[in-house]
Amino acid sequence: MMLTDLKKQVEADLHKIKQQPSTIAIVACEQKYFSRKTGLLTQLLKGVKDLPVAQRKEFGEQANLLRHRLETQLATLKTACASGNITKQADLTLPGILPNIGHLHPLTQVAEELMDIFVAMGFMVYEGPELDNEFYNFEALNIPASHPARDIQDTFFIKTPIIRQQDKMKFAKDSKWVMRTHTSNMQVRMMQKFKPPLRCIIPGRVFRNEATDASHEHTFYQLEGFIVDENVSIGQLIWTLREIFRKFYKQEVKIRLRPGYFPFTEPSYEPDMSCTFCDQKGCKVCKYTGWVEMGGSGMIHPNVLKAAGYPAGKYTGFAFGMGINRLAMLKYDIDDGRRFMENDLRFLKQF
Ligand code: DAH
Repeated sequence: MMLTDLKKQVEADLHKIKQQPSTIAIVACEQKYFSRKTGLLTQLLKGVKDLPVAQRKEFGEQANLLRHRLETQLATLKTACASGNITKQADLTLPGILPNIGHLHPLTQVAEELMDIFVAMGFMVYEGPELDNEFYNFEALNIPASHPARDIQDTFFIKTPIIRQQDKMKFAKDSKWVMRTHTSNMQVRMMQKFKPPLRCIIPGRVFRNEATDASHEHTFYQLEGFIVDENVSIGQLIWTLREIFRKFYKQEVKIRLRPGYFPFTEPSYEPDMSCTFCDQKGCKVCKYTGWVEMGGSGMIHPNVLKAAGYPAGKYTGFAFGMGINRLAMLKYDIDDGRRFMENDLRFLKQF
């Protein structure tokens, strides 16, 4: 082969390797030119001695220059390949790299699932303010000023809240502003806004001035629900709770009402649900009782209906409040509620 042809071929091969560098291509190229028996450059250099003396020197120099160039170029490419310093050209036959698109937080997923269930049963969904006047968070709910729920231990009072003047004027001048301690703060607002029959739920974030542990958070999510109409009964409350939990946990459940106390309901109950983990045989989740606590409920206190401006004695209603965090923990067997707030992807990716 002529030296000039070989030069062209070497340049073409180097160009090709640079386009798509790989150790395999480099080794193949070395073989092609330097192999002891068949290498193109080896053969060319071997032939130098047979040339007429006049050409020998010039030709030999040129061939050696080419060899040197090829050797150094291949060596450089080899190091670059080994160190990964080379952007490898995409192999279009390989599966693509999926972008990490994330998803909704498990608490949002649970809240949305609950909303779907309630909406299908004719409830409307509202949200409310997280920073509220003590009137809606306490007073309107028949929680007198002396009630322990108002204790500084539980409630975050806001010293100088940024509230629009027109909103401020709706409340007593010396009234306090709080981070809502429950989504019940929307009960009387909704009753003022709508006339019975009224069926609504309020999912949302609430705040408690509490130390955090596996089952307590200073910030968590609740779902408040209530119905106001003529002749609403406790039987309807039980049926509604059972229906909600049956759909949410996707299995038959039993509901039992334990007597409780909430200032805004009379009578008040603490509903229990049959344990979905052990079918009431007894397990860690239900603390071997067969029942798990599902929040609070009761018949709406006449004072609350009165605060809403409804005519005395005309309407009755039931209300309930449940912790979305707790419902999610019970659904997915999560034993530490702090997981929801840690933003640890190893946890979040499981949902
Ligand atoms: N607001 C209560 C709490 O945060 C929960 C609750 C209890 C809501 C009874 C209700 C109810 O509507 O009737 O602890």
